[in-house]
Amino acid sequence: MDLWEAVNSVPPVAGRAPKHKLRLFYRLRGAVGGWKSRFLRPGELTPDESRSEQWNRGRYLAEGPAHCGACHTPRGAMGGRDLSRRYQGGVEKVGSNGPDITTATLEANGWTEGDLSWSLRSGIMPDGDTYGSSMAEVVHHGTRFLSNADLAAIANYFFDQPPPE
Ligand code: HEC
Repeated sequence: MDLWEAVNSVPPVAGRAPKHKLRLFYRLRGAVGGWKSRFLRPGELTPDESRSEQWNRGRYLAEGPAHCGACHTPRGAMGGRDLSRRYQGGVEKVGSNGPDITTATLEANGWTEGDLSWSLRSGIMPDGDTYGSSMAEVVHHGTRFLSNADLAAIANYFFDQPPPE
């Protein structure tokens, strides 16, 4: 009700809302359905019984609410994540690209599980540098608020990632 009052307190302007400036494919709502049928996988993430509870929690957080793969998994021509190259590095429209964070690469770059969970709280990487670009925002607005147990679970998952699909 207060918002409605506020909106009505502003005098109307003449003119029309500008048209969308999206390119052809993106203007076709039906195309969203096509995209979803190709890339959306509805359903629940079922726990992998052969793994620990901590690992499954980490997988749920990384693949679900934290959507680490949105920036760290490369995308195909249609914009869907290429899960055969999961976490091998993504291309960002703005700022730096999401680097390769597969287990092998993290280990080769000297990361440990403890480094990863601490960096998601502090924004500080093991070499003493801080995360930049959109990763700084991920920590600032997101992961720094997680519990120690959840950060440890994410790190546990990243250091024992399942094979690519
Ligand atoms: C919004 C995009 C985005 C999301 C979501 C995201 N990242 Fe990142 N990440 C980046 C970018 C960009 C960088 C490079 C940062 C820089 O240039 O300093 C990065 C860097 C990193 C690095 C450093 C790798 C290295 O060797 O330098 C790690 C580790 C990492 N991210 C882990 C994660 C984890 C774990 C998640 C999920 C909790 C996540 N990221 C979610 C964009 C993202």
